[in-house]
Amino acid sequence: MIGVTNGRTVGITGLGVHVPDRVLTNDELSTLVDTSDEWIIERTGIRERRIAADEEALTDIALPAARAALAQAGLEGKDIDYLVCATVTPDMMFPTASALLADTLGSTEAAAYDLLAGCTGFVYAIAQAAAMVSSGLSQRALVVGGDVLSKILDWTDRSTLVLFGDGAGAVVLEPVEQGGFLGFELGADGGGGEHLWLPGSGSRKFPDNGQAYVKMNGREVFKFATRVMIHSAERILEACGRTVEDVDVYVPHQANVRIIDYAAKKLGIPKEKIVINVDRYGNTSSGSIPLALADAERDGLLETGKLVLMTGMGAGLTWGSALIEWTEMRAR
Ligand SMILES: CC(C)(COP(=O)(O)OP(=O)(O)OC[C@H]1O[C@@H](n2cnc3c(N)ncnc32)[C@H](O)[C@@H]1OP(=O)(O)O)[C@@H](O)C(=O)NCCC(=O)NCCS
Repeated sequence: MIGVTNGRTVGITGLGVHVPDRVLTNDELSTLVDTSDEWIIERTGIRERRIAADEEALTDIALPAARAALAQAGLEGKDIDYLVCATVTPDMMFPTASALLADTLGSTEAAAYDLLAGCTGFVYAIAQAAAMVSSGLSQRALVVGGDVLSKILDWTDRSTLVLFGDGAGAVVLEPVEQGGFLGFELGADGGGGEHLWLPGSGSRKFPDNGQAYVKMNGREVFKFATRVMIHSAERILEACGRTVEDVDVYVPHQANVRIIDYAAKKLGIPKEKIVINVDRYGNTSSGSIPLALADAERDGLLETGKLVLMTGMGAGLTWGSALIEWTEMRAR
């Protein structure tokens, strides 16, 4: 799907993030599996990641992020009429994480549902929320993206264990006077799905499957990732009548610094425009892009009028890009 927005202009008016306290370093990981700090840094750029405590579930880390996003927008939970939570690690299949969050936040008027699109979930979710607000069906939407992938990793499998971390982010979407989302490009290829999958996690039976763990063919995912990161960005820029030179801030999914470097080089995006925090958080799936947006904000990159390109990719396989002209975020 590719589309240029043509209704009410919609922007991000609040942003919040949260990560668990526990920091897990590469050195600690090397006491669990046969790996090393040197290997992980060289192949992925990751130095450490955050890991949820045993009793911590997705909504525990998503809630502070949601509250911070609402506070920045100067809103309360009751002001939200649409809440979508992108995650592959909800507290349970139902009630959904979004329904639980809506209840705790007091969003009694909100439609609330979870969205499953792997690490691309956040981009899919902001596309849906932007369309709902743009059309006038929703007035104020809260989009949450987050995962606690540590709960579905095989802690004896070094090929996946070193890559992922836990974290969440949230954004408020509202009509804005100027700027806002320009368009979205979203795609999926189920044919490549088994390169990154969680067999045994649903209604399909798998022989000898006990607990379901993430399984991945790293080389195939690497090839897929570099291809779609470039293609998706080029397509959305062209559809919106913009060029790579127009991009002020590039916020790629934080999976691996080599994937980001490769895509940015091929696209021709200079280093100073790229947001990278995979070294501190690893791949936090649906939390990755909002966590990177928060770093961009902290570093003063998200000024009004700046053109921000976000591209995600992940399980499904899925990918997606969003192009937004930034608007000022502040409490009313
Ligand atoms: C996983 C990934 C980092 C592996 O890097 P790579 O350069 O492709 O490495 P390879 O898979 O070719 O493995 C190289 C060697 O390192 C070994 N290896 C794999 N994981 C290792 C680890 N954690 N520590 C040490 N060695 C490891 C392999 O067994 C292999 O050994 P061999 O040559 O003796 O067979 C890389 O393929 C990748 O990032 N893929 C994309 C994954 C991703 O982003 N997934 C999420 C998408 S949302």
